[in-house]
Amino acid sequence: MDFDIKGLRAALGCFPTGIAVMTAASHEASHIGITVNSFTSVSLDPPLVLWCIDRRSRRYPHFAQAPGFTVSILASGHKAVSARLAGAGEHSLDGIALIPTELGPPALADSLAIFECARESVQDAGDHAILIGRVLRFARHDGAGAPLVYFRGRYGALAQNEAPESPSGRGTSDSD
Ligand SMILES: Cc1cc2nc3c(=O)[nH]c(=O)nc-3n(C[C@H](O)[C@H](O)[C@H](O)COP(=O)(O)O)c2cc1C
Repeated sequence: MDFDIKGLRAALGCFPTGIAVMTAASHEASHIGITVNSFTSVSLDPPLVLWCIDRRSRRYPHFAQAPGFTVSILASGHKAVSARLAGAGEHSLDGIALIPTELGPPALADSLAIFECARESVQDAGDHAILIGRVLRFARHDGAGAPLVYFRGRYGALAQNEAPESPSGRGTSDSD
């Protein structure tokens, strides 16, 4: 049966996501980066996160073999750097504003949050591999502004002056 892969991709794009840049050590450049929207939390105890990488990517061997990776959650001001690290073969971090981390791979400056991870496992899943990382250190920067958002193949941002609702549907206010 022919499967409509283009249509599937478009339908999956209806799920809005944030954007993260993953950084890791590499043999060629000192560190490399890749833009992803497949990042998700997995477990709090132990603290695990995952993301998926296309096994056809030139960056795959580096990330699959690296002992760990750093996750930078992008802000709306990171659109240009996100586009750059999504370019074919564009994996160098040269010229990108970075901050050092304790464990090695640098993080992008002005990120909303940073997670320093040790590689826990790499599992093949079709044309992608699932990289699971154990969070060893993390930091949150609440002043970094609105997140960079991806929806239907385009970048966007959450309106910053709209108060998020609590999961129960009740708005958050001082009287709650
Ligand atoms: C918004 C966005 C999200 C992406 N998410 C992923 C992802 O989760 N996993 C992945 O392998 N590639 C993802 N990509 C593609 C990579 O960023 C990059 O374009 C691809 O790895 C380029 O091929 P190369 O690594 O062979 O140079 C995404 C691209 C964009 C623009």
